[in-house]
Amino acid sequence: MGLKGIVSRRKTSEAKMTRDEDMLKSCIDPSRLPRHVAVIMDGNGRWALKRGLPRTVGHQRGVSSLREVVHLSAELSIPVLSAYAFSTENWRRPPEEVSFLMDLFVEYAAKECDELKQNGVKVRVIGRVEGLSPHVSEAIRALEEETQDGQRLVLNLAVNYGARWEIVDAIKAIADKVWSGKLNPEEIDETVVGDHLYTAGLPDPDLLIRPAGEFRLSNFLLWQLAYTEFYVTPVLWPDFGRVDFLQALVHYQRRERRFGGLKRGL
Ligand code: IPE
Ligand code: IPE
Ligand code: MG
Repeated sequence: MGLKGIVSRRKTSEAKMTRDEDMLKSCIDPSRLPRHVAVIMDGNGRWALKRGLPRTVGHQRGVSSLREVVHLSAELSIPVLSAYAFSTENWRRPPEEVSFLMDLFVEYAAKECDELKQNGVKVRVIGRVEGLSPHVSEAIRALEEETQDGQRLVLNLAVNYGARWEIVDAIKAIADKVWSGKLNPEEIDETVVGDHLYTAGLPDPDLLIRPAGEFRLSNFLLWQLAYTEFYVTPVLWPDFGRVDFLQALVHYQRRERRFGGLKRGL
């Protein structure tokens, strides 16, 4: 196929994407959008391997997907988006891949900062930032500081994040308060625990999206996902775009959330 053919095919598929997007948007009720969407950005390695490319290329392409999902969340006025970027278990990967990912976070913090600010995005890093190399933690802290006035969307970036560690850290902080007499053990309830998690002050996710087809949490937001609706799609994260995100929202709006109660009307 000549260049003309390729260009016209791309134009056709772009036009189709816009049509799909418009159609999906018309199915969404803006008054019932999730207040918090969480995404496990998985499948980068498989995306690259399928193309005979190094896994690192998949990670690079994954950044574009994150950009699209951040834009769309801000556009739709979804107030909070949490994105799982690196787990406390991901240190088990080969050192070259880990170091590539760390460099990618530094690059992301530098390159995306202006656009995030322009879009009113406030970045908040959740995870054990102190366990990262100084150049990575500094870049991440700088991004948080630079974007702190963002009013449109809170972007929780989970880096060196593990939900079990998050709960351990919360228990330690609560125990410390009890020990120093600032908190009576009788006062410890779900709200107190929630207030000591990395996500303190934010609503729990209404929707969790897991691309790449795995039906597991991989140590993500264990406490906060107690009543979250799950959406699993086989689409690999680097292929995940606006249409996929809108599809997840349409599915979410079809769900009947009961929180342990009964079906409406019963
Ligand atoms: C997700 O993609 C990125 C991180 C965990 C950092 P993966 O690298 O896990 O991709 P797969 O699961 O091997 O395809
Ligand atoms: C979850 O993906 C972590 C991130 C996306 C950052 P993994 O690829 O690490 O999860 P498992 O190993 O398949 O459970
Ligand atoms: Mg994976």
